[in-house]
Amino acid sequence: MKQITYMALLCCIVLVLLCVSDSASTPVIDIAMDYGGVPLWIDRLLGEPSVLSLQGRMNTAWFRANNPQDCPQECDCLIQWPTALYCDHRGLADIPDRLPDTTQYLFLQRNNISSLSSSSLANITDLRWLILDHNQLQNDKLDQATLQNQTQLCYFFANNNHLKSVPRGLPAGLKQLRLAYNQISSISPGAFQHLHNLTLLLLQGNRLQTITEGDLKGLFSLNLLDLSGNWFSSVPKNLPISVQQLYLSNNTLSGLDEDSFVGFLNLKYLRLSRCGLQSRSVHPQVFNFSSLVELDLSYNKLITIPTVSTTLQYLYLEANEIRGEVHKETRHEMRSPFAL
Ligand SMILES: *[C@@H]1O[C@H](CO)[C@@H](O)[C@H](O)[C@H]1NC(C)=O
Ligand SMILES: *[C@@H]1O[C@H](CO)[C@@H](O)[C@H](O)[C@H]1NC(C)=O
Ligand SMILES: *[C@@H]1O[C@H](CO)[C@@H](O)[C@H](O)[C@H]1NC(C)=O
Ligand SMILES: *[C@@H]1O[C@H](CO)[C@@H](O)[C@H](O)[C@H]1NC(C)=O
Ligand SMILES: *[C@@H]1O[C@H](CO)[C@@H](O)[C@H](O)[C@H]1NC(C)=O
Ligand SMILES: *[C@@H]1O[C@H](CO)[C@@H](O)[C@H](O)[C@H]1NC(C)=O
Repeated sequence: MKQITYMALLCCIVLVLLCVSDSASTPVIDIAMDYGGVPLWIDRLLGEPSVLSLQGRMNTAWFRANNPQDCPQECDCLIQWPTALYCDHRGLADIPDRLPDTTQYLFLQRNNISSLSSSSLANITDLRWLILDHNQLQNDKLDQATLQNQTQLCYFFANNNHLKSVPRGLPAGLKQLRLAYNQISSISPGAFQHLHNLTLLLLQGNRLQTITEGDLKGLFSLNLLDLSGNWFSSVPKNLPISVQQLYLSNNTLSGLDEDSFVGFLNLKYLRLSRCGLQSRSVHPQVFNFSSLVELDLSYNKLITIPTVSTTLQYLYLEANEIRGEVHKETRHEMRSPFAL
């Protein structure tokens, strides 16, 4: 009886701690940095853990002493989410041994992990999230079967690693793949061919120059594609036509053709900020299509406002060289009330 009261008290303390830290301002910044700039949406109905790191949130030694769960020495475990394992921010060189086979949410961000060996996840069959942002993952040290065998995996995050290509053998059930800020210059042939359920793909801050025909083949459900900050010199061909949000900012684009976005019947949000765009190399009708809701053309070299569809709701044009007929100044910036 005493034990039960004690456990209940412990749970209350944890809940209070979690609530307090949810509303603190720092974790939001952490999330944006760790998760490639797109927040992680937590589905509480699914029982997903809403805390992505326990660092600085609680006295982990005290917790370890009071938690009846079997928890690897290198990790922390929470009573509320017995399926979540927090092994982040601790300089680990490898995935810890003997992870509980009940693990579904594995947090390993900000360590020093360079490999995924064949044995590392061999005993875990129900993994749903694998979070490996800010490590040193290398393609030649990833065992293909290790990922492929994780049939329940829906989120694989490896932003800020040392990958040079999109890994092979990604499991077919993935819904989100975050590989921003690596050194990716190529996509392994067929890497995405079975990923029919993938809705979000982050590849910003890499070194892609082209997308060849087969590269993104199979991504029938893709909604958000971030290719910002790569080495594209024109809008890449062969993008999945299902995309609703296409981010291409911060690529030096030589221009935009009339058909650059033809065929993207669902394209609603298009970001082309900091692309060095000049009015004379932007086809006047390129943005005149009716699915478009938001268009970001800020920080370019445009001197005229391009034609846009009447359906457009948000247009960002700040920091261009537009000489307005409205304001008779020789040179001014158009400022939008909304910041992106
Ligand atoms: C997997 O389980 C076996 C049998 O319990 C154990 O010997 C082995 O160390 C486990 N492997 C890992 C990587 O945890
Ligand atoms: C991280 O691993 C690299 C080799 O992969 C090693 O050179 C470096 O010292 C390690 N850093 C830390 C903090 O352990
Ligand atoms: C992957 O699964 C197959 C079939 O279940 C098994 O034989 C193989 O050892 C597994 N490989 C890894 C790396 O877990
Ligand atoms: C893709 O999603 C559908 C619908 O949720 C599901 O039935 C299917 O099993 C998923 N595919 C894979 C490979 O997990
Ligand atoms: C633009 O991309 C380059 C690499 O291509 C990167 O170094 C730079 O920080 C990015 N700038 C912005 C504003 O995102
Ligand atoms: C934009 O496209 C529509 C439909 O194709 C066309 O009717 C309209 O004239 C175009 N707008 C301009 C300003 O050219």
